[in-house]
Amino acid sequence: MVSVQDVSITYRTTFERRPTMKDALLRFGRGQRAVREVHAVRDVSFDVAQGTVLGIVGSNGAGKSTLVRAVAGILPPTAGRIEVRGKVSTLLALGVGFNGNMSGQENVMLGGLAAGYTREEILARYDEIADFADLGDFIEMPMRTYSSGMYSRLAFAVAVHMDPDILLVDEALSAGDAKFKERAAAKMKELVGQSRTMFLVSHALSSIQELCNDSIWLNKGELMMRGAPTDVVKEYTKFVKVERNALTLEDV
Ligand SMILES: Nc1ncnc2c1ncn2[C@@H]1O[C@H](COP(=O)(O)OP(=O)(O)OP(=O)(O)O)[C@@H](O)[C@H]1O
Ligand SMILES: [Mg+2]
Repeated sequence: MVSVQDVSITYRTTFERRPTMKDALLRFGRGQRAVREVHAVRDVSFDVAQGTVLGIVGSNGAGKSTLVRAVAGILPPTAGRIEVRGKVSTLLALGVGFNGNMSGQENVMLGGLAAGYTREEILARYDEIADFADLGDFIEMPMRTYSSGMYSRLAFAVAVHMDPDILLVDEALSAGDAKFKERAAAKMKELVGQSRTMFLVSHALSSIQELCNDSIWLNKGELMMRGAPTDVVKEYTKFVKVERNALTLEDV
């Protein structure tokens, strides 16, 4: 169960403003201290019942990742409340990462410990995780040598094998190849069958329609719509004025 009540999230960034590109590149003079506030999420409320697979759609910068990070407990809301009942496992494009200097094997251990498992419990699951990621010899290599697809395969494998009540997936599948995406989709359906709750952020609208049974659309931090994935995708694509053909459903 997840309850998001009147949540707003504002990022405040201080930076040095230099009037021209040349000033910026050559670092001429002293820049002016400036502050920018970004209202990434604005007064958003919604409840999600157990067993829901919630798709989250919206343009770049709409606030999707920010919202998911807040649900994960990584980012406190500036205003409002978020209640989460159950064990959360996150798979985020940014943030909570692996250690690039450690091998895939070591990072599986690290991820498992972070999820609250004992060494023995992680060892008992290790083979299953490694099989699922299917990285061959690379599992012994430092993760900085991984391609982005290899990285996200291991991240996905670890996250889904931690028995989460709530799984948050932010764009994590986009880097995987067709075969892995298929395996990941099957695994997600299996988790849904066990009535786990899932949030899936994706620009692949066909995945949203295929995997989710509920959805929200964010635009400039605001909740525009909540409803059945087909309806939400229809309104969203109408809003951004792209034709809904097979190609755009892959990436909007
Ligand atoms: N760490 C940060 N500091 C300051 N501003 C941020 C930070 N992270 C995100 N933002 C801003 O917050 C807004 C929402 O960003 P967010 O990453 O949540 O969007 P998104 O919907 O996930 O977009 P995308 O589809 O590109 O992943 C954007 O305007 C972004 O510039
Ligand atoms: Mg994002």
